[in-house]
Amino acid sequence: MAQLGGTPIIIMKEGTQRTRGRDAMENNIAAAIVIAEAIRTSLGPRGMDKMLVDQFGDVVITNDGATILKEIDVQHPAAKMMVEVAKTQDSEVGDGTTTSVILTGELLKRARKLLEQKIHPTVITEGFRKAAEKAVEILDKMSIKSGIDDKEGLINAAMTCMGSKIVSESRAELAKLCMNAIEAVAEQIDGKWVVDIDKVQIQKKAGDSIDDTKLIKGIILDKEVVSPGMPKTIKDAKILLIQSAIEIEKTEFDAKLQITSPEQIQQFLDEEERMLRDMVNKIVNSGANVVICQKGIDDMAQHFLSKAEVMAIRRVKKSDIEKLSKATGGMIYTDFDDITPDKLGYGGLVEERKIMSDKWIFIEECKDPKAVVILIRGGTDLIVDEADRSIHDALCVIRDVVEDQKIVGGGGAPELEVAIQLRDYASTLGGREQLAVEIFADSLDIIPKTLAENAGLDQIDILMKLRAAHQKGNKFAGFDIETGELINNMMDAKVVEPTVVKIQAIKSSVEAASMILRIDDVIAGAKSAMPPGMPPGGGMPPGMGGMPGMGGMGGGMPPGMM
Ligand SMILES: Nc1ncnc2c1ncn2[C@@H]1O[C@H](COP(=O)(O)OP(=O)(O)O)[C@@H](O)[C@H]1O
Ligand SMILES: [Mg+2]
Repeated sequence: MAQLGGTPIIIMKEGTQRTRGRDAMENNIAAAIVIAEAIRTSLGPRGMDKMLVDQFGDVVITNDGATILKEIDVQHPAAKMMVEVAKTQDSEVGDGTTTSVILTGELLKRARKLLEQKIHPTVITEGFRKAAEKAVEILDKMSIKSGIDDKEGLINAAMTCMGSKIVSESRAELAKLCMNAIEAVAEQIDGKWVVDIDKVQIQKKAGDSIDDTKLIKGIILDKEVVSPGMPKTIKDAKILLIQSAIEIEKTEFDAKLQITSPEQIQQFLDEEERMLRDMVNKIVNSGANVVICQKGIDDMAQHFLSKAEVMAIRRVKKSDIEKLSKATGGMIYTDFDDITPDKLGYGGLVEERKIMSDKWIFIEECKDPKAVVILIRGGTDLIVDEADRSIHDALCVIRDVVEDQKIVGGGGAPELEVAIQLRDYASTLGGREQLAVEIFADSLDIIPKTLAENAGLDQIDILMKLRAAHQKGNKFAGFDIETGELINNMMDAKVVEPTVVKIQAIKSSVEAASMILRIDDVIAGAKSAMPPGMPPGGGMPPGMGGMPGMGGMGGGMPPGMM
């Protein structure tokens, strides 16, 4: 409410809550720090997993920062922005989500101290921006060249990324499998390697163990052969892909049939049989021995197909038919009269296999070697789901290295090296910005510190040792958490990360921290009453949704605020 000449003017709806200035900022920073603290313990190979239970009682066990934050239903707008950090990190590079959230929390924690010293938020955000720019430069320079031909680099990066997950025991096998999958789908476009990880099909089924996870060159359909009389295995398959039903079409309108004698019924049935036989003949004459149909297949047609030793699968999704067309090189037909032998698809082996209680069709050795599936197995659904997330991360990491061609040693080494070089850089700046760059550098130390802490090691001791090693010029000096040893080059310990993951973590955390630091007014609309049982929905206050477009947030504080 504002006052104008004694008349109150109502600006906001009744029940609207408003927090301003220092209070608003304090409040936002505190919420963001709480989120960062919550996931700190899951960083690194000795990090703990979280078990999350939603309001329906469904359980997720994970170590993945983005997943944890996605599952917990946060209410506070600033906490929601932390969730966005993880999401951005996940969608951009697929790994480093925990790192980016922890870093955001630490940046804010240290910024809070500068705010207390009456340093204006815009000075801090400007310092952060400069520091981030410099950090990217340093990371680029300290990187080592890698790429699709550097198999060891790719495998080590994938293994490092899976080291912190439940699947860690099987990661050597899984890393190789992921690398083979990426190699299969990678393409060179205008001299640059490009990987679309969506081209790697993922199928999962609880049962057996993680070690039974396989890479299959081909496609899997979760369908079974339509009739038990049909062959279950076909080698050198000539595959017919058809969109129309192998049935007699029903008329669109209700037709009345006047049948006056038993002969007429017989005639009618004979005609139907003749039409179905005709369809099947057209299929068989084309040389097809596998039929994959988007619609239904009539019982009688099934019978004729069985007699001709043709395997048939019905009601296959349109998107799967399209995938099959690409993989097998087969044309998608709609009309039986058009079928020609040269446009059938090819698969070296088409087979129905039993996976636990289900039967699935495996179409292998396809024409297109880019068709690959990872069939994930594992003791329980919980494990299979976490394995799926870990394999997704590993695929992302390998893609990152193939596309960007740069890697660094991990285990806190890059953060520590950047911190050291940033402190030198800060001293060239002077003034209040120097302070902001310095706290940025100090914030980076949180990564090696947290890794050490989670491994039960002494933080300060490790930090000192690492700094000494870096000062001697070992840019990849880090701590191998698995052995507890200080290592001058983390590459030797096979702890490797894509440079883009480190760069993106810095970019996303600076963006989020700056965004939170620029907010000095939180206006929350009155909550509408919700029917009981509804999940607590949290609409963000206007203008605060999502990370993109942060440039549009009016930064700065009104004069006299501080
Ligand atoms: N064997 C290891 N020794 C030390 N640090 C490791 C090791 N393996 C992985 N790390 C580090 O763990 C961190 C990643 O942990 P992770 O839990 O996957 O978090 P994020 O979600 O940020 O990827 C990276 O800093 C990485 O270098
Ligand atoms: Mg990771």
